[in-house]
This record gives sequence, C-alpha cells and structure tokens, in this order.
Amino acid sequence: MILIMIFPLFFLSLTSCQTQKVAEDNEQLSREERIVIRFSHIVGEKTPKGMAARKFASLVKEKSNGFVEVQVFPNGYLYKDGEEIDALLRGDIQMIAPATAKISSYVPEWQAIDLPFAFQDTDEVHEYLEGNVGNKLLNELERKGFYPLGMWENGFKQMTNTSKPLVKPEDFRGLRFRIMPSEIIRQQFLELKAELQTNSFNEVYQLLEKNKIDGQENTYSNIVSKGIHSQQKYMTVSNHGYLGYVVLLKKEFWDKLPEDIQQILQESIEEVTAWEKTMARKLNDESLQELKNCGCVEIHYLSEEEKQLWEEALKPIYQRFTNRFGAEYIKQLPRNKEAEH
Ligand code: LMR
Repeated sequence: MILIMIFPLFFLSLTSCQTQKVAEDNEQLSREERIVIRFSHIVGEKTPKGMAARKFASLVKEKSNGFVEVQVFPNGYLYKDGEEIDALLRGDIQMIAPATAKISSYVPEWQAIDLPFAFQDTDEVHEYLEGNVGNKLLNELERKGFYPLGMWENGFKQMTNTSKPLVKPEDFRGLRFRIMPSEIIRQQFLELKAELQTNSFNEVYQLLEKNKIDGQENTYSNIVSKGIHSQQKYMTVSNHGYLGYVVLLKKEFWDKLPEDIQQILQESIEEVTAWEKTMARKLNDESLQELKNCGCVEIHYLSEEEKQLWEEALKPIYQRFTNRFGAEYIKQLPRNKEAEH
C-alpha cells in the first residue's frame, strides 16, 4: 500500500518520450513494488466472463505500462461460488465478477434480474440496468462495501435435464434441479413443482454424472464449456432468465488506489464491456451450434403458446417480489413501461 501512495508521483513525473522506458522499468519491478489485482472467477477460460477477464488484464497491463498486474484465476481454482465474495471482502482477492443472483444475499433486490421472462432480449436488460433501478442496485452494492466497476453479460438461460423434454410446466414435477443461490430462482422451480438444491457451478458436472440431480439451467456457453450437455438428454430453449455479472472490487481497496490507476481500470472496463457484449453473443451462438451438431441433446424450442403457459405458472412470483421489495422493480421493466404508453 505504501507503494500505492508513492506511485502517482513516480508515474506522473515521467514524460511521454520515456514511455518505452516506463514499460521496461515497470515490468522489472518486483511483485511487491507493483499493484497486483487478483481476479478470481468460477467459469472456464472460453466463456464470455473468462475471455473478458483475460482481455481486461491485458488492457490494464498495456495502459499502466506493466505497473498494474491483473492475475486471473479461472474455474474456481482459488475460490468457489459462495467463497469468492467473502474472499473479496477479506482482501484475499481484489476482483470478482459473480452472477447477479449470487450477490443477492448482500443486496436481495438484485433478484429482480432473475424474475422469469422479465426481459425479452439483452437490449431490454441494458435499458433496465441503465435506468433508475440499475442505479439504485449499484448504489446499494456500494453501501455494502463493494465497488461495482462494471457489468458484463453472458446471455439467456435454457433448461436441460436427463429425463424428458420440458414442454409444459407439469413436466418439471419431481425433477431435481441445481440452482444458483437466489430466492427468485428457488421460487421459479418450486412453482413448477420441481425439487431443487443450491450448488456451486463447479459441482454441476459431477452432480449430473453421479445422478444426484436431473437438470439445471444455464446459458449455451456455460453448458458447453463445462461439458454439461454430455450428461443431459434434453434441452428446452426457453430464454426464461438472464445471466449477467457485476464486476466487483472491495470499495476500501478501490478508494485507496491512486486516481490515475482508477482511471486506467475504468477505461479498461469500458473498453472490455463494449467488446464483451458482442463476444458473448458470438460465443453463445457458436455453443448453440455445437449443441445442435453434437447429436447428444434433443432440443425443443418453446413455442409462443407454451411460453405463455410457463409465464402463467410463474406469475405468483411477481406478486411476492412486489410485496417484499415494492412495485418499482416490476413497473420499470421495459415491457411494462411500453405497456404504460
Ligand atoms: C452458474 O453458477 O450457473 C453461473 O452463474 C456461472 C457463471 O458465473 O456464469
């Protein structure tokens, strides 16, 4: 931390014609002398989050001439779901990008993002998060000691299982699903009369392999990158829920960073985020293609009528959410705002 304080003087006193020198000098500094940001996440490298984390690390290195080193630890090697947030707050790691569902134990209102069929496409999610509700959700995170640096996305979740095609709400009855820790996702499966258990993402493959669960919900890229499809017979393309991430630092760590470093991190995240949206779409398209080509899962595309039946079955969740958190979160959903006009 001492170095963090003296760095601006050192960094700013160098003139632009010395840039090459700065790069060499900073790379040669010892680990103790540079700023090291340990970025832990739980998904594979070839996923939207995995690739965005890598790109972020290389941009930060480039922009700081090697002074800031972002070390990326993928696949839950360092910390698993349920451990990474605490590790961030303890200061053992400096950066994470959990799914919005996973921060709901700190700010439960984030579960609004998990409401089934709340968004028709990613544009609607962006509109929602860039508006009043999004601001409020981010401010709440700051109040809880986090610094939300940005938002990344994956895409929409689909349902997979080993037992049967999931076409009607009744088809879920009695099936065992792994879920992320979110009360809304829990209610979603309870309304469908399924059984559920909360497990870390890195356990899903083994749970399926050992027949401890029948199914799960996830994006195409997460399904393919973890080989989940090799343990599943059916997939329903339902696009029922959005999976996005909040890129988080501990606020205390962020506040102690020199302003020029904060600026580098901010610029880098903006650049990566713009790129990540397109890359996530592409990766999910490629993964869907792989799922079609593998011949290992039978794919059912939910029709408009079938979707309406699912929506009807899941409607009570909206009322419960409103009772607990207020109507604003539902009213501000783009589809409801359109209906108002
Ligand atoms: C999951 O736990 O299913 C996903 O949130 C994993 C991730 O971070 O994409």
